[in-house]
Parts: sequence; C-alpha cells; structure tokens
Amino acid sequence: MKELFNKNILLGISGSIAAYKSLELIQQLKKKGAIVRVVMTKSAQAFVTPLSLKIISGHQVFIDSDFLYNKMIDHIKISKWPDIIVLAPATANLLAKLSSGITNDLLSAICLATSSPIAISPVMNKNMYLAPSTQDNLKKLNNRGVIFWGPDYGNQICGDKGFGRMIKISKLVKLITNYFKSGFNNVKNLKIMVTAGPTIELIDPVRFISNYSSGKMGFAIVKAAIDVGYQVTLISGPVKISTPDGIFKKINIKSAIEMKDAVMSLVKNQDIFICCAAITDYRLEKISRKKIKKQKNNKLCLKLVKNPDIISEVASLKKNRPYIVGFSADTEKIGKYAKEKRIKKNIDLICANDVSKPNQGFNSNYNALHLFWKTGSMMLSINNKLSLAKKLLHQIIIFYEKKS
Ligand code: PMT
Repeated sequence: MKELFNKNILLGISGSIAAYKSLELIQQLKKKGAIVRVVMTKSAQAFVTPLSLKIISGHQVFIDSDFLYNKMIDHIKISKWPDIIVLAPATANLLAKLSSGITNDLLSAICLATSSPIAISPVMNKNMYLAPSTQDNLKKLNNRGVIFWGPDYGNQICGDKGFGRMIKISKLVKLITNYFKSGFNNVKNLKIMVTAGPTIELIDPVRFISNYSSGKMGFAIVKAAIDVGYQVTLISGPVKISTPDGIFKKINIKSAIEMKDAVMSLVKNQDIFICCAAITDYRLEKISRKKIKKQKNNKLCLKLVKNPDIISEVASLKKNRPYIVGFSADTEKIGKYAKEKRIKKNIDLICANDVSKPNQGFNSNYNALHLFWKTGSMMLSINNKLSLAKKLLHQIIIFYEKKS
C-alpha cells in the first residue's frame, strides 16, 4: 500500500516566491496516495494561480473571496477534514496571525478552528526570521505543539544568506511520510534535547583538555528525531560535522560549565533529554591567561577540579523532569559500570558503548549499544550511527510512552 494512502492533507499556501513549489509538493504527496486539498491566502495567488493548484490537486481550491464575501465556504467543516495541516510556504505574517489568533482570512480561521496537528514550513528573509517578534511567535507556536519543518540555511532570492529558505520538497515529503509512517504521530510534537560532541577545558589560551568525541553519534540521534518530526534542541560541543536540516534550536558551547548552563536554561521545557556528549569530568582550577612556558624542572602540575555532572542535575529536577537517556563510554566492565551509573545518576535509560573496540564508538561511523533500564536490557548490534540512532530512538519512544 502507498505510504500516504488515504491521508487527508490540507495544504495552506501563503504569499512567498516559494509558493510555486507547492505544485511539486502536491504531485509528490498524491503519488504517495495522499488526498491533498489546498487553501490559499490572497497574497499567495500573486505567485501561483488557484487554477494550477486545482488542476494538480484535483479539487476545488479554497480562497478568501469565497469565504469572506460570498460565504460559500464553511471553514469549520474544512478544519475537521485533515489528518494534518501543512503550511508551506508559511510567511512571517502567517506565523504572527497564528500566534495571536487573528482570523481575518480563510487560512488563519481554519488553523484556529482545527484540532488537527499543524506543521509549518516557514519561508522568509533571514532578518525577518531572526527578528525578535518572529522568534517569539515561533516559540509560542512551538509551545502549543505546532510542528516546524525548516527553514533551511542558504542563499536567498533577495541576495542575503542565512536561515529562511524553504526546505527541499523531497525532504518535506519525507518528513510528512515519516510523521505518518512511524506511528509516532500518536506521540505528537515531542520536544527532545540532545547533547553531542566533546567539551573542552582550557589550560591556557592555546591548550585544552578534551576527548575524541566527534559528535557523530549525537548528531545521528538529532537527525533521526528531526526525520520523525520532533522538535529538537541540540547543545553541541566543538565538532567538525554539519548540523542536520530542520533543527529547532542549536547552542554551541565549549566547556562543561557552558554546556550545563545551556542545558539547564532549556531542559525544563523538554519531554526527553538525551545526553550523548562526552563531557570532560575535570577542568582547570585556574586557567592561565598567558601561554604557559616550559618549566625549568621539566614538570608541570595542573590542578583540576570536578565539573558539574549535568545529567545528574537534570535527573534531580523536582518539577518538569524529562525522560532521561544517558550514555556510558568505558573500556572495561562495560555493563557493570553502565548499570552503576544509571542508578547513581538516576537515569531512566543508559546506553553503554565499548570504546576499547576498534571501528566503533569515538569518532567512528559505527557503534553498538547495550541498553539498560530499571527492569531490563537489550543489545543494539553494530551498525552505522544513523541506523543505530533510529533504532535507539524507537526504543526511547516506547519507554517514554510507558514511562518505564
Ligand atoms: O561523538 P562520537 O565520536 O560519535 O562518539 C560517541 C560517544 C562515544 C562519545 C557517545 O556514544 C558516548 O558514549 N557519550 C558519553 C560519553 C561519556 O561521557 O560517558 P561517561 O560514562 O563519562 O558519562 C555518563 C553519562 O553522564 C553520559 O551521558 C555523559 O554525557 C554524562 N555526564 C558525564 C560527565 C559530566 N560531567 N556530566 C554528565 O552529564
């Protein structure tokens, strides 16, 4: 059976140059078996005609004039039809209306009336996207459970470069398909925070203490979660790999203290916290402001102090504690140490990796994980990190739903 067979998708198009892409979007969704109906704002009609959309979708296109003046359209009836409303492209103006509940056109009236999930693919100039009012609107909508797919980073029609491009149609179709396919659409709009990569602790302006984490495992989890349609916040140490498209928020940090501050400022708003970062356990008691010179006695003593244990701090939250997934990297007694850490740090699920083995763990494209939770354990055998991340995420969601 086709992946989107009989799924009712209401496509809301607003006034952006990217509106022409909706023709391809409809074609691809229909190919997968979806029934697509279209609502257009007045400004969208300046970029693509209702007739083209009617021909491609095979259905009457809902437009403002029929709603506002002729009263031929029942917006409540339409709002009850879709399995999902996809707003693509969605302008800053549409986001502002949705966030404040303005209903002076058909599309915003349907969105206010619906109890179906809404997914938004924003498109706008980078400065408009970063404007505090747009960011506030995004946050508000997110907190209400709206799903965001995009925007992408890249060249913009106006000549600027930055966030605001519409995500590729193939990617949007994949996200819509995954949303239905995974069955995760029952667990709507999960917010997931992932930490990834190493942290570094300065010794002096040119030297630091760190580890071999590349960020690949954490970023693979981020990609797997975005592909399902979750809202993902990434707190990343210094890595050399690119960030998956569709991230909700990313904070780059360097030290463990910076990672702790970033995590603690946002974690209370999360459903799931996945702490995959290899956080440096110790930092210099005092960072030298100048480059340390060679010592006359050939010895250099560095005084280290313990870093905060971030996952334990999250686990000890009395209110708004998310479901917590930790990782455990060891070179011996892998299972024993992982089980001990799970209990000591009060983690719901711990994923142990044997980092003594070649070709897996730190900086490899492959990994294997032994999962331990309160009442059981299971092995996820060696695989590339993205496939492994997908399996892991699937398990996490099962546990999260059961809160085991
Ligand atoms: O980044 P890659 O190259 O892809 O490699 C992936 C990985 C090997 C780094 C990853 O799979 C992994 O195992 N990450 C956790 C490594 C680690 O720090 O393990 P740990 O046993 O020291 O810590 C246990 C847990 O406590 C971890 O979830 C860790 O993030 C957390 N922790 C540790 C120290 C600290 N100060 N605060 C913490 O929250």
